[in-house]
Amino acid sequence: MSEEAKMESTSSFEPKIMAFVCNWCTYAGADLAGTSRMEYRPNVRIVKLPCTGRIDPLFIIKAFENGADGVLVSGCHPGDCHYTTGNYHARRRWIAFKDLLDFTGIDMNRVHFSWVSASEAIKWVELINNVTDEISAMGPFMDFKALNRGKPESNEEK
Ligand code: FES
Repeated sequence: MSEEAKMESTSSFEPKIMAFVCNWCTYAGADLAGTSRMEYRPNVRIVKLPCTGRIDPLFIIKAFENGADGVLVSGCHPGDCHYTTGNYHARRRWIAFKDLLDFTGIDMNRVHFSWVSASEAIKWVELINNVTDEISAMGPFMDFKALNRGKPESNEEK
């Protein structure tokens, strides 16, 4: 690919961001942003889970393998988890898993962790816009897509 073509494809690059969020806080905050008709970047795809404590670190690896350029994990603020300690477990798991992700070659700037409550629609909007800008500046993440070789391509990527 020529330098000119590379620059053109980078400037039109729209990252795919996978967000794993808990049902009770962040999903409700994102929903509030939607029902309040707040506008934000359309690059995020949300996977709703009961609690951040349910998030298996392999979900993050699989997201990259299946085409994500960035991943966001978000749940209730510390002390507000509807299952009491799920977000503390998630945070502890995250600290341990960060080194493993780094070891596997994933730039940690592509993975974001945040707390967004059900009333923080504005925080959700700002978070998505900021994460999208950061991932856009980093460009596409191709390394893990090679792991998915052999699986049929989705129509979206054609
Ligand atoms: S219910 Fe939201 S983090 Fe546990």
